[in-house]
Amino acid sequence: MHKKLFIPGPTEVRDEILQAMATPMIGHRSSAYADLHKSVEEKLKKMLNTEGRVMLFTSSSTGVMEGAVRNCVGKKVLHTLNGEFSRRWCEISKANGLPLDTIEVAPGKAITPDIVDAKLAEGGFDTLCLTYNETSTGILSPVPEVAKMVRAKYPEIIILVDAVSCMAGVPIHNDEWGLDVILAGVQKCFALPPGFAVATVSARAMERAKTVPHRGYYFDFIENEKYAVKYNTPATPGISFLYALDKQLDDMFAEGLDNRYARHLAMAEHCRAWAKQHFALYGDEAYASPTVTHITNTTGFDFGAMNKELGKRGAQVSDGYGPFKGKTFRIGHMGDLTLADVTWLTAQIDDILGM
Ligand SMILES: Cc1ncc(COP(=O)(O)O)c(C=O)c1O
Repeated sequence: MHKKLFIPGPTEVRDEILQAMATPMIGHRSSAYADLHKSVEEKLKKMLNTEGRVMLFTSSSTGVMEGAVRNCVGKKVLHTLNGEFSRRWCEISKANGLPLDTIEVAPGKAITPDIVDAKLAEGGFDTLCLTYNETSTGILSPVPEVAKMVRAKYPEIIILVDAVSCMAGVPIHNDEWGLDVILAGVQKCFALPPGFAVATVSARAMERAKTVPHRGYYFDFIENEKYAVKYNTPATPGISFLYALDKQLDDMFAEGLDNRYARHLAMAEHCRAWAKQHFALYGDEAYASPTVTHITNTTGFDFGAMNKELGKRGAQVSDGYGPFKGKTFRIGHMGDLTLADVTWLTAQIDDILGM
């Protein structure tokens, strides 16, 4: 039996989207491909509120995280750590030998403008990495406020944002916020299968890239831009993903972006209320994520046994990530799931646990 995915990615994919992926193949240097690429890029620009470039990459998000730091870090990058995925980005910079420093807050806390300001004030940085939605802890940091502070006080800093688990689930105003790169894979709030990622790349980021001698090959922004002007990619793209993304973006606009974001919030509010009734929310509720709810297992129930029984009923939720395994659990409410879906889910868990 298929288990409906209430995990923080990959998320449940509708049949219509799977069918769009089965569209007959075209050559990636054909005009039909360029039309498709242009259509997807224009729709993403509308969703992300940008007049700049949106690049398309056939890889998971991690690839673009690596590409972003390789293209943009010249002097030194500041990594802001509040969980496992922000830590991963820092590991990527380390693996590439990039000069870096970190600030860290306890898991469950957000990255706020004051702590970023205090560190940037030490000087020497030219790039900042922010994780908008820390999927391991269920925390949405106030990226618009951090970016506003950075743009006002440190105009030379390139701002890179991992929005992997919230893009298409929360509003993003790329140009107004002054972001340079905001990236995401399509397997979370976009509700496509995994394997494809998108990223805005500002003119400022492109200028920085021109000063960086070794940007790598596959994710080289300058090389990608040479092709992007013709609505192409340097290497053969995952064309099936573009068909699915084009259809999904149409469906998102048909739903209405504001309605989509409100739906994510409504699912989050339901899960939070349920969690507080039976368990406890993990972390700072003021920054609780609209796309993943992170719950402390205060009653010590057997998570594995519960999830197994849930599986028999056709659903799946997630254990705590990394150090939280066995201590917390997470409900992903992303993409095309509805309030009715999460209401059904929590009723099943109530029934299984006899609550
Ligand atoms: C916040 C965040 N960043 C990065 C990643 C890595 O993404 P991917 O597995 O698509 O490379 C994830 C995956 O869960 C994530 O949640």
